[in-house]
Amino acid sequence: MATNSLFLLPGDGIGTEIMAEVVKIIDWSNAEGLTDFSTDSGLAGGCAYDAHGEAISEDDMAKALKADAVIFGAVGGPKWDNVPYDKRPEAALLRLRKDLGLFANLRPAICYPALADASALKRELVEGLDILIVRELTGGVYFGEPKEIIDLGDGQKRGIDTQLYDTYEIDRIARVAFDLALTRGKKLHSADKKNVMKSGVLWDEVVRGVAKDYADVSFNHILADNCAMQLVRNPKQFDVIVTDNLFGDILSDVAAMLTGSLGMLPSAALGAPDPVTGKRKAMYEPVHGSAPDIAGQGIANPIAMIASYAMALRYSFGMTELADRVEGAIAGVLADGLRSADIAQENRKTVGTQEMGAAILAKLKA
Ligand code: NAI
Ligand code: MG
Repeated sequence: MATNSLFLLPGDGIGTEIMAEVVKIIDWSNAEGLTDFSTDSGLAGGCAYDAHGEAISEDDMAKALKADAVIFGAVGGPKWDNVPYDKRPEAALLRLRKDLGLFANLRPAICYPALADASALKRELVEGLDILIVRELTGGVYFGEPKEIIDLGDGQKRGIDTQLYDTYEIDRIARVAFDLALTRGKKLHSADKKNVMKSGVLWDEVVRGVAKDYADVSFNHILADNCAMQLVRNPKQFDVIVTDNLFGDILSDVAAMLTGSLGMLPSAALGAPDPVTGKRKAMYEPVHGSAPDIAGQGIANPIAMIASYAMALRYSFGMTELADRVEGAIAGVLADGLRSADIAQENRKTVGTQEMGAAILAKLKA
C-alpha cells in the first residue's frame, strides 16, 4: 500500500556501492513504519549503454517521470570514453534534468563539527557552517543562443555564448530559494553582476519583486565576485544564496570545499510544482562522480549519497524529522571517529563503504 515512490538509478562505478547503503536505510525505515516507500530501480549511464545501447532507456525514463523522487548515484568511467557523444553516460543526467524540468539545483555546504579541522579554513570560520546555494540549472549562458564559434575569415575566430534569462525563469528560482529560506535561517542573498550585465539587472529586479512576498526573510543583494570572496572570508554570514547557472556552478564549488571531501556533498534538483498535486519532480544525487579510481574496492564514502537521500526525505516528502535523524546519524558516526579513506585522519578509525553505512544505520536504530 505504498503511497510514495522512489526510483533508484545507482549508475556506474561507486554509484552501485553507495546506493546499496541507502537501500538498507530505506528497508529499515519501511520496516519500522517510518516511511511507506515503494522502490524500483533502473539503469543509467554506462551500464545502461552496455545493456541497451542508450544512456537511459525509454522505459526507465518513463519510470523516472512517474516517481515521486529519483535517487541517482553517479555515472561514467573510462570504459565508455569512446561511445558516441549522444550516448555517453552523462547523457542520462542531461536527459533526466531536461525531461523532469529540474531548474533548481540545491547545494548545501554543511560543516560537521567533527570535520571542522579538515577544512582549508580555520575551525572557527567553518564550525557549524550550514549554507544552501540555490543555483538556476536550466538557463543562462550554458544554454543561451547564439552559442557558436564563427570564422571571421582573417585567421581570427569568435567564440560566442549568450547569457539569457526571462522573467519567469528568475521568478521561479527566486521563489524556490525564498521558500527554502523560510524553513531555515530566514536570510537570503541574491548574487549577480548587475553592475556589468543586463541579465543581472533583470535578475535583481525580479528577485527584489519576489522578496516583497517574503516579508519574513531578510533579503540582501551581493555582487557575485564579492560573494566568492565573502564565502572564503566569513562564510557563516550566509544562509541561502540564490544565483544563476554560471555563478552558481562556481560559488557552489567554492562553498563545498569549505567543508571537506567530495564524498560528503549531497545535492538536489527540483522542478516546478505539478498544477494538480503540487508535488515537484525531483532528483537527488551526490555531487561527486563514479570515482573509477576506487570503484569496486569497497572504500567509497557513502555519506554524500545518504545525505542526498536525507534531502529527498526533507524536500520531496516533508519528512523533516526523519531527515534530521539521518543527518544526525551521519554527524554521530563522524563524532565517534569513523572516517572513510577520503576523509581519513590520524587517530581516527578508517572504515569502508559498508562499515560506514552500517554504522549510520546503527545510529538510526539507536
Ligand atoms: P569523481 O567525483 O568521480 O572523482 C574525483 C576524485 O574524488 C577521485 O579521486 C575519487 O576517488 C574521489 N571521490 C569521489 N567520490 C568519492 C567518494 N564518495 N568517496 C571517496 N572518494 C571519492 O570525478 P572524476 O574522477 O572527475 O570523474 C570520474 C567519472 O565520473 C567520469 O566519467 C565523470 O564524467 C563522471 N562524473 C559523473 C558525475 C555524475 O554522475 N553526476 C559528476 C562528476 C563526474
Ligand atoms: Mg561545477
